[in-house]
Amino acid sequence: MIKLSRHADPLEPAGQQELIGLWRSEWTRTDYDWLEALNGDYADTLRTVSVVARIDGRAVASATVNFAAHAPETCLIGNVVTLAAFRGQGLAKLVTDAAVAIGFEAGCTLAFLGSSRMEGNVYERCGFIRVAGSIMCRAAPGFEADMTFAPGHAVALRDAQWGDMTGFVRLLTQPLADAVIDMPRGLMSIAAADPKRCVSAFPLVHESVHLRGGVVLMLAAIDSSRIFGMGTLTPGPAPSVSHRGIVDVAAHASYATHRDEMLARLLAAAGSRRIETLEAVVVTSDTAKLEALGRAGFRPVATLPGHLRLRSGPADAVRLELKLT
Ligand SMILES: CC(C)(COP(=O)(O)OP(=O)(O)OC[C@H]1O[C@@H](n2cnc3c(N)ncnc32)[C@H](O)[C@@H]1OP(=O)(O)O)[C@@H](O)C(=O)NCCC(=O)NCCS
Repeated sequence: MIKLSRHADPLEPAGQQELIGLWRSEWTRTDYDWLEALNGDYADTLRTVSVVARIDGRAVASATVNFAAHAPETCLIGNVVTLAAFRGQGLAKLVTDAAVAIGFEAGCTLAFLGSSRMEGNVYERCGFIRVAGSIMCRAAPGFEADMTFAPGHAVALRDAQWGDMTGFVRLLTQPLADAVIDMPRGLMSIAAADPKRCVSAFPLVHESVHLRGGVVLMLAAIDSSRIFGMGTLTPGPAPSVSHRGIVDVAAHASYATHRDEMLARLLAAAGSRRIETLEAVVVTSDTAKLEALGRAGFRPVATLPGHLRLRSGPADAVRLELKLT
């Protein structure tokens, strides 16, 4: 007899132990801190609910759903796992469907997850279709045409918060003005390369930038949880290179004019961190980003032939620098 239960973060210690036990049956580490998440450290802005399937009282499978606490619109499914001895009985489908249902009940119209291409992928059986690369999507009934963003949203630039995790994945599936979203982490626009990351894209950037004492900016809609652009300042690595930093910016095609504002904020943040030299590496075809960096004072210092591997083939890049002192 299979029983399903729901567990929202923050979770009490026994529930935490049970989930971590399931996850550790397959993974030894994650892109974000399991304990921080389970203790509710992200819960102000990001709702996280895990579905657990039990057979004879034993937890044997789980799936987790995330959505923004403010104006849920997009949900992400992750941590889908079934204990090895219980696979092939439909448990992953059961917990994935249940996790998606929680997201849709909360008001989300689209669910995303990351999965490798494989024959008979269980998520196809759950109604997910492949958007590109590792990203798969399922629409709530009646919202099949809800994929593309319209222009004209009122936006504000602010520091990233965990609740942006879901909106950021949605941005990854949109037509962006820039081929590269974040050069230090190798995050590319879907138009330029097949995405390798889905749920992990935001935690990867957020954790790695904050470990280096940097800044992640989000160009966020005021009236929804949509994200239209991102800017990063990645200092260091300290202590030996604390005088340098790398910046990058990217935006949805309809909101690309906000690059200048993002760069101004990143330059100010670099100044307050006593960074002396800022660097940017831009694929040569991103002419509008190169112009925005030029307006901010960056000058080319080197060309990097074949620096990136895009869908269209190897692409050249330009390394630019700006002296802040
Ligand atoms: C993927 C996984 C959760 C499937 O669990 P399950 O309870 O056996 O799934 P179901 O019984 O509902 O469906 C079985 C189908 O999943 C498919 N499947 C197996 N591994 C898969 C994977 N990594 N991704 C997607 N589908 C997978 C198989 O094609 C299988 O179909 P079959 O029975 O016709 O061979 C399980 O194999 C697992 O825990 N793997 C390790 C963790 C993992 O890779 N999780 C996915 C992260 S995106």
